Amino acid sequence: MSRPRVVLGVSGGIAAYKACELLRRFTESGHDVTVVPTAAALEFVGAPTWAALSGKPVSAEVWTGVHEVPHVRLGQTADLVVVAPATADLLAKAAHGLADDLLTNTLLTARCPVVLAPAMHTEMWEHPATTANVATLRSRGVLVVEPAEGRLTGADTGKGRLPDPEEIFEVCRDVLGRAASGTSAATGGAADLAGRHVVVSAGGTRERLDPVRFLSNRSSGRQGYALARAAAARGAEVTLVAANVALADPAGVKVVRVESTAELRDAVLSAAAGADAVVMAAAPSDFRPTTTSDTKIKKADDGSAPSITLQQNPDILKEISHHRARPDQVVVGFAAETGDATGSVLDLARAKLARKGCDLLVVNDVSGGAVFGSTDNEAVILGADGSAVDVPHGSKSALAHQIWDEVVARLSRPASSG
Ligand code: CTP
Repeated sequence: MSRPRVVLGVSGGIAAYKACELLRRFTESGHDVTVVPTAAALEFVGAPTWAALSGKPVSAEVWTGVHEVPHVRLGQTADLVVVAPATADLLAKAAHGLADDLLTNTLLTARCPVVLAPAMHTEMWEHPATTANVATLRSRGVLVVEPAEGRLTGADTGKGRLPDPEEIFEVCRDVLGRAASGTSAATGGAADLAGRHVVVSAGGTRERLDPVRFLSNRSSGRQGYALARAAAARGAEVTLVAANVALADPAGVKVVRVESTAELRDAVLSAAAGADAVVMAAAPSDFRPTTTSDTKIKKADDGSAPSITLQQNPDILKEISHHRARPDQVVVGFAAETGDATGSVLDLARAKLARKGCDLLVVNDVSGGAVFGSTDNEAVILGADGSAVDVPHGSKSALAHQIWDEVVARLSRPASSG
């Protein structure tokens, strides 16, 4: 198989240096990368750096190697064009079809997926001109990744940071993978969740016993993070409610951190109010201690142990399924089952689907305890309509996309244009 051809566009922002790391990720994982900086990008990071890291000559304008017609050929032959960082100026040019250098020409000739990762000051990102340009680009199927919040150049902080290169890389890999497998065309395009707001919960909640101890479970949050990443790569606005997860924030995703089931419930309900879909991939603790001690519980001298009484936590999935924020909202639950004397894994899962009232239930057979913390997964996606989709053993990212395929098929209302 030939190596995927990636054009890495770099426009003129201070975050250009982070594109070096992104470039390394691509080359080290076998991609054929051509770097196309703008003239302004070269003020930040020089051509020798890009040429050395990519192993190819680098030019910002259309007058180098004219006999090879690079201003047309690069876009035509690419499997993916990604611009990181994409400045406000680059977004404006791309939205209006200007073509005054090699990168903007390439964007006009590209027929492959295009990913833009903006980075700029908050004022520029929030300016109505930029908002309109981003909306135009998204309406054409371009994946514009939401910038991260945090420290910007100088002393200010806010929205506008370039997401971690590692996470931009994951988005690109996702988009490339879907394009190569043809699944994006089958499900209505790479950005088939554009204009949709989705909520994903991930991780395991903690129920405090005292200031240093808690009850929890083994959920790593990986499947929920893969779902959030996959949804962002398909163009959705994503709110990820994360309970005690030690993973990097996925690019373009709003992360809300929580600790307990009560906090998870509040965050999910509030985000679900306007959402097209809610996926409960978190493992909320079903029980919490009836009382929480403000001071550390001490050992007794007589060797006796304290007894802990528990009370049930609310079932969030059941609540959002039975009291939908919108009648057309698609709700997805997960079930980790082992099967028992009363029924097989699938029997128990069907009963759980009915009990919870969700539209889809992703069923993992955890008899061997294999799913927790691993990067792979295998599952059956049951539908309330009686459907059952077998997802063979594969990555959590592959399962995430299968789940979104099922969700997309059930979204009835047209996507919002904003
Ligand atoms: N869930 C939830 N709120 C809870 C517990 C679970 O929303 N308090 C959600 C999980 O996020 C997951 C699904 O419900 O999507 C799985 O629930 P599970 O704990 O397996 O189901 P239970 O109803 O607790 O089933 P069981 O009777 O097997 O304990």
